[in-house]
Amino acid sequence: MKEYSPKIKILDDDLSVDKYATSFVINQVRLQPSSVITLPTGSTPLGMYTLLSDEYSNKRISFKLVTFFNLDEYWPIKKSSPSSYYHYMNNHFFNKVDSPYENRFIPNGEADDPNIESKKYNNLLEKYGPSDLTILGIGPGKTAHIGFNEVGSDYNSKTRYVLLSKETHDTNLKFFDKEGDMPIGAITQGISNILNSKKIILIAKGVSKAWGINRVINGNIGPDAPASFLR
Ligand code: GLP
Repeated sequence: MKEYSPKIKILDDDLSVDKYATSFVINQVRLQPSSVITLPTGSTPLGMYTLLSDEYSNKRISFKLVTFFNLDEYWPIKKSSPSSYYHYMNNHFFNKVDSPYENRFIPNGEADDPNIESKKYNNLLEKYGPSDLTILGIGPGKTAHIGFNEVGSDYNSKTRYVLLSKETHDTNLKFFDKEGDMPIGAITQGISNILNSKKIILIAKGVSKAWGINRVINGNIGPDAPASFLR
């Protein structure tokens, strides 16, 4: 396996990270208006979505021709649930810009069968992909996950139904009203889907990401730290 040294950029504050991530998306769309872009959820990219929405409001960019894929979605979950990534994406980004509904893909948390939905999502990624640009966050603590590729995820993994780790469950429980509302699993793009992207940036903020980032940059490449496969 060929190993790449990721370019590491350390910035002073959250806003600088938001601006830096935003510039990748803007440059990509300006260069190629019909780009395919994979997007993350979580608190880390919220500032980026605000800046991207502002760029659109100020008529400096259009997302009309862009195809967006999301990394993941809980399963099962209603699209209308405020905790769904479907809701997150509409709320924080899609409803604020000119992205046509038919150009955005998020795994369907309402699908009857997560395995069939995962297959469909893989087919869509194959049809429209590979992504020109993928923006990633990283799971906190020792999860070091990308999307919901938890510890143990395979290098060759594709979109599939996964069970959330205990650490992910405990971290993300705060986004649900009560314990019973939180799904035990999710549908996530696999490591190989992510690595197919022509360009990938991973953004991380705050001390809860320090262990993972250090592990990913300085440790061995392997499924015990899924984000390490980016190398
Ligand atoms: C979830 C998502 C990941 C994201 C992570 C980090 O687990 N599935 O894609 O990277 O949250 O979230 P935060 O940015 O809130 O730390």
